[in-house]
Amino acid sequence: MSILEPRTRELDTGFDDPCELLLSCHDKVRRFTQLALRIVDHIKTHGADEQASEAASRILRYFRMAAPLHHEDEEKDIFPALAALTEEQLSAEQAQALAEHMDILLQEHEILEKEWHVIEKWLDGLEKYQLLAVPQQLPAFVDRYDAHMHREQSEVFPHIALLSDEQRHEICLQMALRRGLTPS
Ligand SMILES: [Fe+2]
Ligand SMILES: [Fe+2]
Repeated sequence: MSILEPRTRELDTGFDDPCELLLSCHDKVRRFTQLALRIVDHIKTHGADEQASEAASRILRYFRMAAPLHHEDEEKDIFPALAALTEEQLSAEQAQALAEHMDILLQEHEILEKEWHVIEKWLDGLEKYQLLAVPQQLPAFVDRYDAHMHREQSEVFPHIALLSDEQRHEICLQMALRRGLTPS
């Protein structure tokens, strides 16, 4: 049985709501981190075969190109816009809690990016049919990403609804431009 899933288009959501794209990115992160775990099982019996190479190639492509853009969306557009919410929009306690969550998330971006570079070397080998030792960091990376996205979705993204239509539109525009797209 193939460990690969059918391909999907890289960008399959519109740009009218930043949350749609953010959640779509999270779905892809989950899909590709789970694929990385499936590779570990696969190579135990099949070695570094064509399927492992193709799977590694898909994960590499996502985490080298799309994942950094997603972190940039959050760091340059989403978090700053939410940090600028006014007292009328958010109580002092809510604003404090939100700021603390975003601080943690920013620190986690740095940790995740460092861990990714270790995993990237392993996948880069697999893509070339080389069987390197599975990085010890892989399970922690997958768990950390899951917890990170859960924190974003439960504690941070719901506040995007407090932004004005104009602010959400501007964020969508910036996210589209970051991807070299012209939004409609
Ligand atoms: Fe994030
Ligand atoms: Fe995220």
